[in-house]
Amino acid sequence: MENFTYAHNDTSSGERKTPTARFNVPALDEKIRSLRQSAFSRGIPTADDETLNFLITLLSAVQPENILELGSAIGISGSVMLNVCSNAHLTSIEREEGFFREASENFSALALSERVTQILGDAGEIIKTLEGGFDFIFLDCAKVQYVKYLPRLKQILKRGGILLADDVLLYGWLTGETPVPKKRKMLARHVYEYVDAVTHDNELTTTIINAGDGLALSVKK
Ligand SMILES: C[S@@+](CC[C@H](N)C(=O)[O-])C[C@H]1O[C@@H](n2cnc3c(N)ncnc32)[C@H](O)[C@@H]1O
Repeated sequence: MENFTYAHNDTSSGERKTPTARFNVPALDEKIRSLRQSAFSRGIPTADDETLNFLITLLSAVQPENILELGSAIGISGSVMLNVCSNAHLTSIEREEGFFREASENFSALALSERVTQILGDAGEIIKTLEGGFDFIFLDCAKVQYVKYLPRLKQILKRGGILLADDVLLYGWLTGETPVPKKRKMLARHVYEYVDAVTHDNELTTTIINAGDGLALSVKK
């Protein structure tokens, strides 16, 4: 058995580590593992281990059929979601053309292209045009915009559907574990507004989860 050390707030790796991070390691297939390695080595953003593990566990139980992702990057979380939910279709939005193209290649290499609708553009504009009926939404793009997107995301989410927002504890800034750097006060305020909104919304039931960099799990009543 591994020697016990208390890992909470260990920022030596540059990442926020929760006390549970060491246990919450996702089982990923070899192709996705190597895509993640490539993303990490090139500084491309992608969900951390604990977040991905939570996503896999949750989706294994819920098995949504119509998933929306805001922020595809190179398609890693999208591919993981599709692998877990064999009957699902994914609509994934990304505004960086290079990431969009690379995600397209990755979906194709993983034989997932037929189950994905990729949309290139600004998520805020695109969600206005989507028909809706999503039973799972993974919100993982510009954090300052989360609160602005919320009213529309609620409209396009089915009753009983789940809205999962990533990175809502922002390196521990929102829980007071670490002080908010002066330059990031605006970002912290916007994310706080999102957390405040979803935890006080009569149409949602929400739990804030201390996994990864913080997740807001909201279910539409
Ligand atoms: C954290 S990364 C997504 C990681 C991906 N979900 C994963 O786990 O593999 C956030 C992505 O959102 C994209 N993004 C940021 N703001 C956006 C916006 N307003 N509209 C669409 N995409 C946006 C960024 O270009 C970036 O690729």
